[in-house]
Parts: sequence; structure tokens; C-alpha cells
Amino acid sequence: MKKHFKYLVTAALPYANSFIHIGHISGAYLPPDIFVRYKRLNDEDVIFISGSDEHGTAIEMASISEKVTPQEIIDRYHFANKKAFEDLGINFDIYSRTSNKIHHDTAQEFFLNIYNKNILVQKTEKQLFSEKENRFLADRFVTGTCPVCGYEEARGDECSNCGSNLSPLELINPRSKITGDIPVIKESTHYYFPLGDYQEKLEKWLDGKRGWKQNVMNYCKGWLKAGLRDRAISRDLDWGVKIPVEGNDGKVIYVWFEAPIGYISATKELFTERNEPDKWKDYWMNEDTKLIHFIGKDNIVFHSIIFPAMLMAHGDYILPDNVPANEFMNFEGEKQSKSKGTGVLVKDITAKFEPDVIRYTLASNMPENKDSEFVWKDLQVKNNSELAGILGNFINRTVVFTKNKFDNRVPEIISIPETEDGILAFLIRSLRN
Ligand code: MF3
Ligand code: ZN
Repeated sequence: MKKHFKYLVTAALPYANSFIHIGHISGAYLPPDIFVRYKRLNDEDVIFISGSDEHGTAIEMASISEKVTPQEIIDRYHFANKKAFEDLGINFDIYSRTSNKIHHDTAQEFFLNIYNKNILVQKTEKQLFSEKENRFLADRFVTGTCPVCGYEEARGDECSNCGSNLSPLELINPRSKITGDIPVIKESTHYYFPLGDYQEKLEKWLDGKRGWKQNVMNYCKGWLKAGLRDRAISRDLDWGVKIPVEGNDGKVIYVWFEAPIGYISATKELFTERNEPDKWKDYWMNEDTKLIHFIGKDNIVFHSIIFPAMLMAHGDYILPDNVPANEFMNFEGEKQSKSKGTGVLVKDITAKFEPDVIRYTLASNMPENKDSEFVWKDLQVKNNSELAGILGNFINRTVVFTKNKFDNRVPEIISIPETEDGILAFLIRSLRN
């Protein structure tokens, strides 16, 4: 007998610091929406989770450059992005946010669970500090030259040119992103997650995976080959989930440690709203659930290595079944990027075109195995010749034919020619599988 799985489908939680664009959609939101629609049509048990990622230096940077509070930033973009998804017909069961109390509680419990098992390591290490701003320059607060490719505007956490994962101290000629101040080195004590201790377990786990995308597997193998190292999971910042251990004033949990826990918090919130407050466990604590993370390629390491290791450390929850990551969709020859002002925002394109036209154009050009490209001309051709010309015409002829020859009614089937019978049988078979 066919085994019945539950499906827990997640789409990466976008930062609530900017409006989402169609590159995000074709990478991490339309693919799961198509998958989930299909599962729902088949009456499968599926829930579809996403929400805003509202902490981290991405949010704080936006609040500083726009001279408003972080709360104003996240409120503005959370609701705008929630609506953008709705306008495109992307129907999450819940679109939550990591500033919710339920998320702070869940993330702190998770931290404490592994802290109490003595899994975390505390270390005092050198960090970049701006005396002018009186703050440590974590992640995006610092820019400098990438030690790998030489790009001069690399961020403290990642080089957007070559995709290397970085730490601020690796940057050449570091400076403050906000004031340009040249930082000094100062020591700070942080909690580290011993990722290296999970290397073997992760290798074994990944070895057992079938049906993963090649790009994702290759990327993971690259990380494992380089060897996994301890990762700092606290930061000297004000905005975020507080470290739930005494003596850590002014420190928060690193955003990439707490945000994926947001998938768990959002599931709790969903079932609390449905008056079944314990039902989230049926998904997260059930080996018959397939947890599937849809993401863009820049999120691979977090979902296929770090979060699984965290889940292993915690022990109560299932691990991802698959992490289908897409590449990027560029725009008229350039990367879609908020900082460069390139790309097409969802709120702008949905103001002009029907969601199905947009979805069709993006779906037929999805960056599944390599980067793809959006050009306006393509949307015009897809709309005018494929949707209106071919599909529209086909439907129109069928309807007109039905009107003229069958008195406006779909006629009863009398006999089915062999070829059509074969097609029907094939369709029914594929729907059942
Ligand atoms: N906010 C991240 C980004 O946009 C994605 C977070 S996914 C989660 O790249 F798993 F951490 F929630
Ligand atoms: Zn680089």
C-alpha cells in the first residue's frame, strides 16, 4: 500500500528590509507554490509556511540608512511583501514574522536546549570595532575587499561577487559601511556552535539522500570537503532575539541561527490560530513528514548543512527531506538587486499584469539548473502568442465549436477513439502517482 506522507513545505523567509522582486519569486516562491498546489489537488496533507525574517544587520542597516526605527522598517516591508505574495496567488497557510513573541520564545528554547546540553562553546575572539560609532561591526556593518576574488565592496558576512562566505576579519581594508570609519580590533566573547562535530553525521545523512538537485549536492560536498568549523551564533547587536542566558546584555542570537527556527515557530502559530495548539508536533516530530525547504542558491549552506546540524543537536525534530534550491533569475543582463536598483518588483509588475501571465512567464523560464534571464520582451511574447494566441485560441475554438455543434453543452461521451483513450488513461495514471 502506498505510504501516506505529510508534507511540510517551507519557502525562505525574506528579509523585511526591501520589496521582493521577481527574482525571489522564480527562485524560492513560485516553485513551492506550484508543488503545493499539486499536492492540494491530490488531497495530500500539506502545509506551506513562510514569513518575514525581521532581525539581523540587514534590518538594522536599512533602519539606519532610512533614519527610522527597525520596527518601522519591518512593519512596512512585512505587510507589503505579504500582499505581494497574495497578489501573485501564492497561498501560504501562514505568512508569519520572526518579531512575533512565539518566535522569540521558540528560538530561545532552542538555544537553551543545546546550551543546557553543553553543546555550545564560549570563546573570546578578536572582532572589528568602530570607536566612532561605539559598536562592533558585525556582518553587513562592515565592507572591504574580498580575500577570495578581490571585489572591493564585499560584505562582512558574504561576498556578493563570488558568493564566498566570509567573516569580517577576513576582509582586506575593512571599513564601516555606515560611516566609512576604519575599525580597530577589540575582543568580545561569543557562543559558538561546533559545526565541525557534526561533519561525519552530516556526511552520512547527505550520502543517503536520493533525488537532490546536483547544484545543491555539489555545493554541500564542497563545504564538507573544506571541513566544517565552529560558527559564532551570537552577535553584539541590539536588534534581535536576546541570548537567554544571564550576563549577555547587548547580545542577540545570530540571525541565521534563529531565522530557520522561524519555520517551527510559524507552524506553531498556524495551529494555534486553528485552535489545535499541539498539532504542529504532528509535523515537526513525525518521521512520516517530508520537510522540504525551497530556497535560492545563496541560502544552500544554511538549509542543507547548518540548520540540519542544529536539528541534530536539538534532537526532537525531523531533518529536511529535500532542499530544492534554484539559481538566480537575472534582469535584462544584470543581477536583480535592491542596492543596484535593478530588477522588477512584484508590487510593480502585479499592478500591470494578471498574476497568471506573470506566473506563466516566470515558470517557463525558471532558473532550475543555471541562472536565467527575465526580459520584458519575453513577457510580451508569452502573453500575446503563447497564452492569448495558442492557448486562448484553442479554448475559444473549443467553446465556439461546442456552441455551434452541440447547443452550448458539453456532449456526453458516446465512444472514445483508441488514441484518446490512451491519453486519458495516461493522465489518470499520472494524477494517481
Ligand atoms: N532572510 C534570508 C534571505 O533572504 C533567508 C532566511 S531563510 C531562514 O536570504 F531559513 F533563515 F528563515
Ligand atoms: Zn569575492
